[in-house]
Amino acid sequence: MQSVWTEKYRPSTFEQVKGQKRILERIQAMVNQKNLQNMLFCGPAGVGKSTLAVVIARELFGENWKFNFHELNASDARGIDVVRNDIKQFARTKAIGTELPKIIFLDECDALTKEAQQALRRTMENYSKTVRFVLSCNFFSKILDPIKSRCTIFKFKPLEKEDVEKVVFNLAEKEGLNVSKETIDALYDVCEGDARRIVNILQSCAMMDKNISTEHVFEFMAMAKPEEIKSFLIKAINKDFINAKKEMQKVMIQHSLSGMDLIKQIQKEIWSLEIDDNLKIKLIDKCGEIEFRMVEGSDEFIQLEALLANFANAHVD
Ligand SMILES: Nc1ncnc2c1ncn2[C@@H]1O[C@H](COP(=O)(O)OP(=O)(O)O)[C@@H](O)[C@H]1O
Ligand SMILES: [Mg+2]
Repeated sequence: MQSVWTEKYRPSTFEQVKGQKRILERIQAMVNQKNLQNMLFCGPAGVGKSTLAVVIARELFGENWKFNFHELNASDARGIDVVRNDIKQFARTKAIGTELPKIIFLDECDALTKEAQQALRRTMENYSKTVRFVLSCNFFSKILDPIKSRCTIFKFKPLEKEDVEKVVFNLAEKEGLNVSKETIDALYDVCEGDARRIVNILQSCAMMDKNISTEHVFEFMAMAKPEEIKSFLIKAINKDFINAKKEMQKVMIQHSLSGMDLIKQIQKEIWSLEIDDNLKIKLIDKCGEIEFRMVEGSDEFIQLEALLANFANAHVD
């Protein structure tokens, strides 16, 4: 069976982690001094949070890292008590081959209720001598202050384009892929710095063809190419309503897009149209309204046509 690339190519050293420069510097300093605090990793998906937790353990514990590192999902459906028990079991024994505290990585902490977070805070205090916690979340605001104040906070960012490039080039080299600059642009456009998504798309595309094309990327994502969206929007702005409508329907059918899929792409493309900024804002606002109507169950073709009509009536006042 073929292995999953996000695991196969998960960085295992600091050098292999791309981007997150400031965070890497601070964490490397902590690791060098062997002075580990509790940490809170915060940021969007696929930017290296879980990866860095493992790298820290590898760097600190060397070959014994697996004995001294434990990964748990805080949102475990079986509840916080199961999570706490699990922590207790792991914390009970001394670390192997080191005098340092062990590490528990607790993912998805923002899925915990207030009460569960209180329980977690007490657990962190109870094991403060033997365990360091690395907590991970998507939304900083969902974490209680008493937890934040017990952690060193690291805010992760989506990868920048040059870092995405590095990730892609590395994969291309190891897997013998042919990826053009244009395709990397498309990947970055679609995934916006989520490296996990990028690696997954590349693996899926590579199953069809080692020459990764922009078409494959959009096909796989069930997305239209930005130019296709732009083309019918421009027709609508130029009041060529009939052709704009025809083209829009063709794009939907060709890429099997739902109304919701399409509206998200239209919204994104509005920013790159060469029209007045005030008008962009109006149209974005309209997209929001139409998206809402679709959610409420209104016919999506009628709604999309209404949106196109808005483009056709567009004038700057
Ligand atoms: N900063 C990064 N540098 C290189 N690869 C990365 C980076 N962030 C994520 N990846 C890729 O995406 C995969 C998932 O990353 P992960 O650390 O699990 O993301 P999350 O932030 O959601 O915990 C990794 O195995 C790796 O292939
Ligand atoms: Mg993760």
